[in-house]
Amino acid sequence: MKIYVTEDYKAMSRKAANIVSAQVILKPNSVLGLATGSTPEGMYAQLVDWYRKGDLDFAAVKSVNLDEYVGLEPTHEQSYRYFMQHHLFDHVNINPANTNVPDGLAADPAGECTWYNQVIRNMGGIDLQVLGLGGNGHIGFNEPGNAFELETHVVDLKEETIEANSRFFASRDDVPRQAMTMGIKSIMMAKKILLMASGEAKAEALKLAFTGPVTPQVPASILQLHPYVTLVADKAAMSKLEGLL
Ligand code: GLP
Repeated sequence: MKIYVTEDYKAMSRKAANIVSAQVILKPNSVLGLATGSTPEGMYAQLVDWYRKGDLDFAAVKSVNLDEYVGLEPTHEQSYRYFMQHHLFDHVNINPANTNVPDGLAADPAGECTWYNQVIRNMGGIDLQVLGLGGNGHIGFNEPGNAFELETHVVDLKEETIEANSRFFASRDDVPRQAMTMGIKSIMMAKKILLMASGEAKAEALKLAFTGPVTPQVPASILQLHPYVTLVADKAAMSKLEGLL
């Protein structure tokens, strides 16, 4: 695993954007696995900036997002489709037809997940998967549990995740209770993984993920078994890992 420790959130965002840029420059028709949440926001802003300066071209890029809330329409401000449009897709020359996010309004969410697995396969798999980290060690919406879920599936969100994400909604009651997420196998099949983490709130999860046993109780711990992981984290997120990695 390659590790970059940065001074702060801004430097983490820039480093992560550099890694995504390198991927797109070296392989213009890359399949990017994309993540939402507050962690990658700065990275997307940096990518948009470099696109505007003419340094990046997304014309041939394809994307597949990790997850989406069940029940939120694509135009809902907290849907992950909206997030992606707002932070990246609306500002760069990616072909909208090449961007994929599960449909939160699908009448049959389980069927939507099966279809989504096929979408990923049809694209030939993911070249670079960007990941954030939940405070409880989740990746995508793969919550701590008794088994690693394989491919895209419907999940019941944990209370702590509903709580953590309630800051984005008018009230806790407005947070959807379910989501669709790529599974651990879908993520592990990506050729390369870029894990981002910022802030002290992620320090414990990072420590457990990389120094503890590989266990579905800490979904991110599976990344110990991936051959090509790059971790970009700021000092605060790395604070419990000093001297351990
Ligand atoms: C959400 C998302 C994850 C994200 C995590 C952390 O639940 N499904 O993909 O990594 O929360 O979010 P944040 O980056 O806002 O801390």
